[in-house]
Order: sequence, then C-alpha cells, then structure tokens
Amino acid sequence: MSEKDFIPVSFITLKEKGVVGYSSPSNIALIKYWGKRDNQIPANPSISFTLAACMTKTSVEYQKKAQKNDEFSFELFFEGEAKEEFKPKIKTFLKRIEVYLPFLKDYHLVIRTSNTFPHSSGIASSASGMSALALCFMEMERSFSAPFTDEFFNRKVSFLARLGSGSACRSIEGPLVQWGETASVKGSSNLFGIKYPYKVHKVFNNFHDTILLVDKGEKQVSSTVGHELMHGHPFASQRFDQAHDHLEKLGLVLADGNLKDFISIVESEALTLHAMMMTSNPYFILMKPNTLSIINEIWKFREESKTHVCFTLDAGANVHVLYPENEKDIVFPFIKEKLISFCQNGQYICDRIGLGAKKL
Ligand code: PMV
Repeated sequence: MSEKDFIPVSFITLKEKGVVGYSSPSNIALIKYWGKRDNQIPANPSISFTLAACMTKTSVEYQKKAQKNDEFSFELFFEGEAKEEFKPKIKTFLKRIEVYLPFLKDYHLVIRTSNTFPHSSGIASSASGMSALALCFMEMERSFSAPFTDEFFNRKVSFLARLGSGSACRSIEGPLVQWGETASVKGSSNLFGIKYPYKVHKVFNNFHDTILLVDKGEKQVSSTVGHELMHGHPFASQRFDQAHDHLEKLGLVLADGNLKDFISIVESEALTLHAMMMTSNPYFILMKPNTLSIINEIWKFREESKTHVCFTLDAGANVHVLYPENEKDIVFPFIKEKLISFCQNGQYICDRIGLGAKKL
C-alpha cells in the first residue's frame, strides 16, 4: 500500500453533526523505534505490547460549519478544562492528516480527552492520545463513506496516528503490534502498524507490566529531538541493523516462549536505546540513580528467585517491569517490598498486555 491509498475518493454524505468516541491504550516497545526519516517513517522496525490500563478516552463532537473556510475550527478540553496550550500540537496533526481526511475543515470540532493514568506521570500520552483522536476522525470518515473493511479501517487509523506520533500507530490493536518494514514479518509496513501476524506462545498471555514512576517530571529531551539525534549518530547504522536482527530473534522467542531469550533481547533493547542517547551529540542521560537501583534489584532477584522478571525503559527514567502471569505471586510482592521505595511518592501503575482500542 502507498500513502495515496489513504486519500478518499468520494463520500456518500457529510453528516450535519454527530459525536464519536474511543478509548485507546498506550503501548510499550520491546524492540525500540529510535530514529526516523521524513514523514514519521521509522529508521528501523519496532514491536510493542499493547497495554490495557494506561489509556486515553477521547470524544469528538462535530457540527458542520455554516460556510466551509480554510481554517481548522476546534475546541479542546483535557479532563474537563479548556487547554489552549495543547492546541498547537493538535493543529499540526490536523494539518498533516487533512489530505487524508478532506472533510476536517467542513466542521467545527469539540474534542474532549482524558487519561486513565496521572497527567505528568512521565508516561507518554502521545501514543494513546494521538491514536484515540485518529480513531474518532476515522469513525467520522466511516459514517460518511461507502462501507470499508475493518482491516482498511485499522490500517488507516494506524497510518493517521503515526503522523501524530510514531509510536501511536502501534496502539490500535493488540496484544502485539509490529511497525516498520522488515523481512522477517510478512505484511510489515513503514506506513502503519499491523497486528503481529504469527502465533504467540501462551506464556505471553496476560503478561504483566508494572510501571514504576521514578521521575514524574517533564521529559528532559522530547522524543522529536531524540529521533533527530540519530541523524549522523556514529552508531546509527549498527543500531538499525541490530533492531532487524533482534526482531527476527524475538520472532522465534514469541513462538517458542523462551523467556530467557526474551529477557536478553528486551533488556538489551532498553539499554541500547539509552546508550544511543548517551552517545549522541549532544549527549544526555535520562535514567536516574533510582532507575539503576531498580535494574540492579531486578537482576539480583531474578538470579535468586529463578523467575523471569525483566525490565524495559522508554525515553525516560521510569521502569516497566515485565513478568509472566504464572510468576505474579512471587514477583509482585518483590516489587512492592523492594522496588516501590525507588518511585517518586511511591507511585506505580499495574498494567498488562491488552487488546487495543475500543469504541465508546
Ligand atoms: O512516538 P515517539 O516519537 O514519541 O517515539 C517513541 C520512542 C520510544 O518510546 C522511545 C520507543 C518506542 O518504540 O516506543
């Protein structure tokens, strides 16, 4: 498929008014996307667990303008309050997707959005937020158009969400979503995420992700800047090759459920992401001392308990602690006893692998 396939040819009727709503989850990458080309095309393929608890709920009320003009017209409410400061980001998103949703300027839009996770928890809301909004807009398109398949719907939503924030394209479906062309995954695309198309071992059913909120402050470096720093990065091409290699190896692990290999790929990916940040120009460190303390505690406990708990990281100090359902009675007490003390105000979120967005 190409970008052109997402430009609608005609509509049956543009409704006078309506309201649409979706909840869409966050996701946590196992193979990380870090580095992009123009138009949010990823420099390497990535794969993520869709989450179940960390979600954004968004509704869009639309009312046809008396006269179409050349402006986007919208109001934005975040957790019930008008948020002027979020509007420029939404406007940029609307501009990027307008060619694919040419009706947007026909309407005045009232966007209401809220997160299930605490604002400024250091959890990126862009993946859940942009995907929820893309879903609402696509639902509008669906009601104006001749019927199209769910597959097309999901692909186009993912395609649109990607234009808001790269990783958002991995939030539509679940439990695993792959994004970015790679030989080892049939049907993979740089334009949108696809539900991982192969059989996944049952050990990954209900996999847990306990998110430890180590630092809830504003991100020190935005992901836009971070991706940018992979241009001319001394290790960029090795990193991109490694991602392909890891993805192929992870494919075997997802099929056979070998958690020892899962751990070594997933932790290596997390540390490589941060190694890329530490070796870019300018360089930066997003881990905090408590991030390292948590990692060391996990390694110690894993050795002693012979469990398969492991960690992954986003572009920040928070730690995602991953473990299988059948070890939760051993691992969760350890988290409570040993790791929560490293969290800011003792805060953490119990999440797990989820199935994707839902219509409200
Ligand atoms: O979607 P962005 O542009 O915020 O980038 C996200 C990058 C990481 O979260 C660090 C990795 C990933 O694949 O989600």
